[in-house]
Amino acid sequence: MTPIGVLVSGRGSNLAALIARARRPGCPFRIACVVSDQPGAPALELAREAGIPAFTHEKLPGVKKHRFEEGLVDLLRAHGVRVVALAGYMRILGPTLLSAFPGRVLNIHPSLLPAFPGLHAQEQAHAAGVRYAGCTVHLVDAGMDTGPILDQACFRVPPDLDVGSLLARILEHEHRLYPETLARFCRHELLIVDGRARTFSPPAPLRPLWEAFCTAHHAGTAPPSPAAPGRPAVAVSACLLGFPCRYDGQSRAAPGLIGALGRLDVLPVCPEVLAGLGVPRPRIQLENEPGPACARSPLIRDEHGTDVTDALVDAVERVAAWCREAGVLAAFLKENSPSCGTLRVPCRGARVPGPGPLAQRLGDSGIRLFTEENLEEGLDWLDKNIYPCSGDPGTTHPSGAGKI
Ligand code: GRF
Repeated sequence: MTPIGVLVSGRGSNLAALIARARRPGCPFRIACVVSDQPGAPALELAREAGIPAFTHEKLPGVKKHRFEEGLVDLLRAHGVRVVALAGYMRILGPTLLSAFPGRVLNIHPSLLPAFPGLHAQEQAHAAGVRYAGCTVHLVDAGMDTGPILDQACFRVPPDLDVGSLLARILEHEHRLYPETLARFCRHELLIVDGRARTFSPPAPLRPLWEAFCTAHHAGTAPPSPAAPGRPAVAVSACLLGFPCRYDGQSRAAPGLIGALGRLDVLPVCPEVLAGLGVPRPRIQLENEPGPACARSPLIRDEHGTDVTDALVDAVERVAAWCREAGVLAAFLKENSPSCGTLRVPCRGARVPGPGPLAQRLGDSGIRLFTEENLEEGLDWLDKNIYPCSGDPGTTHPSGAGKI
């Protein structure tokens, strides 16, 4: 369950809708804390009545915005928050908060964006005489209600509807849309590609693993336990399974591979997920002069210039350890990835030959490596080395590494 931090400033009717959703069985999020920038906000009382830790974090005069946000980030992190939901929070977020939860801050806005951003959206819509009105859940970026749209709800506005009734009708839609969109976001069903949200649905055979992996992803904890010992497993880069984790702005599933994996134990792997870089995570870039050394000891920075090398190398070690423990025989890795790719890695925009850190570690452990570039070879390998044994539960795998 993804721990959510809700930021409020006032009444809290959307907060109430989120609380109600979180109480329903199977909800993929829980509300870890509520923070208001207004001391007397009714939303705080609502949270406390629901037994949720609730705090005021006020911006005092003279305090710089980044200092104010640092305090807020500390408070949210202290409660394990992974995703932030704004629910009537009346402040524009700055880079300090946004970079602490990259691509993980959502907002509800009472208009069909991009129409009527900013304050008094309902009044603006009414004054414009709109025939359709509604609300939008979007990711928050540095602009005013400009981040990628996750979902919208709309309705036809009856003639002569007064502004108060329009407001109430929009609010009803907000209360339905926000909790459901947040739930879909936490289930990783909404994938941002090139700044636009796409609905993502994993293929049925991979769904249980996908869910476990996503939970680990948002919780920043371990991925699913390795396959049962004694069974040959295949490790597959999460990007190739279509998991929303992206080093280059794109998650590209490999459908042929997914089809072939339907009958197998699969261990989804992604060093960036384990390193806690989030979804959608920032682009990362190797910094080194092109050459083999780049692949061996790259300095890896995220798009904000933060050095994430240690976190990634640490995560690579953990992935490699799980793969060994699971008796993984082969790994299918995303080719062009700074952290895991095998054949080429981008380096200051260039592509240089050489294994990425994960490929290096897995290769050292004797695990066969395939990428998008030699996927056909990988599928043949699966056919020859894995599938012939799958009919006989007692058969030892040709490599002697385990039983199917
Ligand atoms: C809602 O209209 C929401 O769309 C906007 O602020 C209002 C908050 O209302 N962002 P409430 O505090 O959730 O009742």
